[in-house]
Amino acid sequence: MTELTEQREWQALKRHQEQIASMQLRACFAEDQTRFSRFSLEVGSLFLDYSRNRISDETLELLTQLATVSRLKEKINALMSGASVNVTENRAALHTALRNQDPSPLFIKDQNVKALIASAQEKMRQCTADIHSQRWRGVTGKPIKHIVNIGIGGSYLGPKMLIDALADDAVCDLQFHFISSVDAAHRQDILQHINPEQTLFIISSKSFTTLETMTNAKAVIAWMQAQLGVSLALILKQHVIAITAAADQAKQFGIAAEHIFPIWDFVGGRYSIWSAMGLPLMLKIGAAGFQAFLNGAYEMDQHFSQAPWSHNMPVLLALLGIWYMNFFDTKVQAIVPYAHRLRYLIPYLQQAEMESNGKNISLRGKNISYATSAVIFGEEGCNGQHAYHQLLHQGQHLIPVDFILVAKAQALSRNDDHDILIASALSQAKALMWGKTESEAYNELIAAKYSQDAASLLAKHQVVPGNRPSNLLVLQDLSPHTLGALIALYEHKIFVQGAIWEINSFDQWGVELGKQFLPAILQQVRCEVIIHLLP
Ligand code: F6P
Repeated sequence: MTELTEQREWQALKRHQEQIASMQLRACFAEDQTRFSRFSLEVGSLFLDYSRNRISDETLELLTQLATVSRLKEKINALMSGASVNVTENRAALHTALRNQDPSPLFIKDQNVKALIASAQEKMRQCTADIHSQRWRGVTGKPIKHIVNIGIGGSYLGPKMLIDALADDAVCDLQFHFISSVDAAHRQDILQHINPEQTLFIISSKSFTTLETMTNAKAVIAWMQAQLGVSLALILKQHVIAITAAADQAKQFGIAAEHIFPIWDFVGGRYSIWSAMGLPLMLKIGAAGFQAFLNGAYEMDQHFSQAPWSHNMPVLLALLGIWYMNFFDTKVQAIVPYAHRLRYLIPYLQQAEMESNGKNISLRGKNISYATSAVIFGEEGCNGQHAYHQLLHQGQHLIPVDFILVAKAQALSRNDDHDILIASALSQAKALMWGKTESEAYNELIAAKYSQDAASLLAKHQVVPGNRPSNLLVLQDLSPHTLGALIALYEHKIFVQGAIWEINSFDQWGVELGKQFLPAILQQVRCEVIIHLLP
C-alpha cells in the first residue's frame, strides 16, 4: 500500500496548497456573495459557519477525495458495528452503541452489547430515583446531599464539564464535587464543604487501578470512618458506589455488587460519558435529561454515518483540521467557547483529541512522517480575548480557531450580556479574517490627528495580517440534547482524522509508560530525599 503522503490525493492537496497559499479571504468574500451560504451547514441544533477558512470549492473537493480513498465509509461502519478498531488492544470502540436508539441487537462475539447497556442504564435510573426520592440514606438516616466523584481523565472530565455546562437543567439540589488529581490540599478543599452524613462517593475508574483515584478513594473512606465513627463495611454500603469494568477489584475493595455499575472494555475512557460514567450527570439532570443527551448524540451519529462528506459536519471539521495541520504546517488549534458554562469543554477536548490522536505509529506499524493531532488550547472567549488572542491576531503562528457560541441566552443571562458575548465572538472572527492593512491604519491615525511621521511609524505596529482561519460553531441552546450532539461531533471529528492518518485513536501507550514507571519511582521517593532522584 502507498504511504499516505505519497498518495495521489495527498500530493494533489500539496500542489493545491501552493496554488492558493496567497489566497486572501477578504477578496474571497468580496468576489463571492454566496461564500457564507455555500460554506455553512446546519445539523439539528448545531450550525457551522466554515466560510472563514482558506479554502475554495476545489480544496473541499480534494479533501473529500482524500477521505474517500482513506476508505472512511468502511471505517465508520467498522466503528459502529463493533469491529475491533482498537487493534493494539483487540477491542471495539462502541461508544456509539451507548446512545443508539435502534432496538436491534448488536453483538460482539456472542454478547449482545445493547442488552448490557440497557441493563446498566436501568441500574443508573434506579440509583438516580433512589437518591432523588431520598430513599437512599446515609448511615445516620439522613438523605444524600453531596455527590463526590473520585476519578481522573475520562472518568472525570466528561462529568465535570457537563455538570457545569448543564447547570441550568438541574432537577435536584444535590451538590457535586470532583476529586481528580492526587493532592491532599484538593481533597481537603472538598471535604471541608461536605457533610459526611449526607455524602455519596462515586469511585469512577474503568480499570480500578489508577493510582490517583485509588489513593483518593482510600483517603476519603478513612476520613468518613473517622468522621462518622462507624465500621468500614457500613461506610462502603451506604456512602460509596463504584463505576468500573473491573467489578472483581471493586468487590475486593469491599463494594457490594449492587453498588457496582459496569462499563466494558468496548468503551474507551475518554468516550465514556455516555455510559455509567455519566451517572453524576444523570443525577444532576435526571433520567429524562440524560436520555435527551444520548438522543442528541444519536442524531449526530446518524448524520455522521449517512451524510455525504461535503455535507457532513464532523467530516468537514476533521478535513479542515487536516488541511491546516498537514498542508499549512500548523501545530495548534484553539477552542474558544463564548459561554462560561462551556469553559470545561477545553480540557475535555484536550484529552479527547490529544490522547486519541497524539500518535507516531501507523496501524501498519510504520513510523509516520506527518503531524497528527493539534495541540488543543483555549479559554472562554472574553477572558482569552484579553490575554492570548493578541498572538492569534499578530503572532508568528497560524492558529485555526473554533469559536463556539450559544444562540439562545441562558435563563440567568441578561440579554445585554448575551449580546456582548455574541458580538465579541463575531468581532474576533472578523478581526482574524479581515485584519488591518498599513494604509488603513495610517488613514485612521491621520483622521485621529496624528502627525504624518507619527502615523507612519505607528501604522506599522497596527498592521494585523488577517487571513487567519476560524470556524464558528453556533449551538441553538445549552440543552442536554445540543450538548450530546456537540460532544459526538468532536468525537467523530477525531475519529475521521485518525482514520485518514491511519492511526489507532483508541489506545494510549505513551500514558501507559508513565503509569509503568510510577510504582518503582514512588518506592524510591518514599525512601529517599527527592533531590537524589534528579539526574
Ligand atoms: O490517562 C490514561 C487513562 O487511561 C485515560 O484514558 C483514562 O480516562 C484515565 O486514565 C482514567 O483511567 P481509569 O478510568 O481506569 O481510572
